[in-house]
Amino acid sequence: MIRLAIRCRPELAEQALAELVELAPSGVEERSGEGWVEYAVYGPPGEIPELPHLKAAVGDALLDLYTEQVEDDWAERWREFHKPVITSDRRLRVRPPWIEAAAGPGGVDGVEIEIVIEPGRAFGTGAHATTRLCLDLLCELAGAGLKARVADLGTGSGVLAIAAARLKIGPVFGCDNDPAAVAIARQNALANRVEVEFARLDLRSARPPEADLWVANLTAPILRPLAAWLDRDDPTAPAPSRLILSGVLQREAESVGAVYRAAGYRLQTIRSDGEWAALAMVR
Ligand SMILES: C[S@@+](CC[C@H](N)C(=O)[O-])C[C@H]1O[C@@H](n2cnc3c(N)ncnc32)[C@H](O)[C@@H]1O
Repeated sequence: MIRLAIRCRPELAEQALAELVELAPSGVEERSGEGWVEYAVYGPPGEIPELPHLKAAVGDALLDLYTEQVEDDWAERWREFHKPVITSDRRLRVRPPWIEAAAGPGGVDGVEIEIVIEPGRAFGTGAHATTRLCLDLLCELAGAGLKARVADLGTGSGVLAIAAARLKIGPVFGCDNDPAAVAIARQNALANRVEVEFARLDLRSARPPEADLWVANLTAPILRPLAAWLDRDDPTAPAPSRLILSGVLQREAESVGAVYRAAGYRLQTIRSDGEWAALAMVR
């Protein structure tokens, strides 16, 4: 098993990470030291991202890039990074299968709903700031009694789709261009006993189906062209009344919001966590 480490300049590290998660959707390990932030991906030779792609993604942030052979207990070590996530309203807890269940409502963590997510090779333990922002916004909408058809665009492990289903917001559809993500999302839906329709779909070339609420934890380079599917002059185009757009760096929030304002949406709220922002928009 290979550990591939990319050392970055701290001031450009968040930007580099945003690009890296596209190449390594199963997630990256993060370490930091004096004058560097290191992101590492694990995988067998041939399954880790290619060096030229990594170099291009990280750009000026790159300080150093090196690979090392790691022991076969890497999978266990990797698991240590996954901790349960609890939403701000303490309504929902997301845990990996190897962490003990909360002991029911009012139990260990006092949560009402618990979902179990095996991330497999897909992005979406629930722990990433971009996912947590979406989980909080979904909980708020559910708390306000929203009933809506939900489309989870870039579903990864299915975590947001499954959360929306468990929050009983409405029928849920999830899609991803990565077949491994779709497979693990289906397994996760079964494990959580919810019905969610998952499909493999590349959002750059295929239009998502009609829905009332889009939850899209993608990155700005995908979110911007995604707005083209919301063509107001095309009566067959999807016309969700609400959008949750995440995976946006704070400094990109204005430009991403502008693209959706031009498509007829207005900003309802913007949430942030560290460098990341999520936009809730309505029309
Ligand atoms: C940041 S992850 C989000 C995963 C999960 N929804 C979450 O919130 O944790 C983005 C996901 O979008 C998928 N994705 C990236 N580009 C895509 C595209 N063009 N079409 C469909 N899915 C895409 C990736 O494979 C990845 O699973």
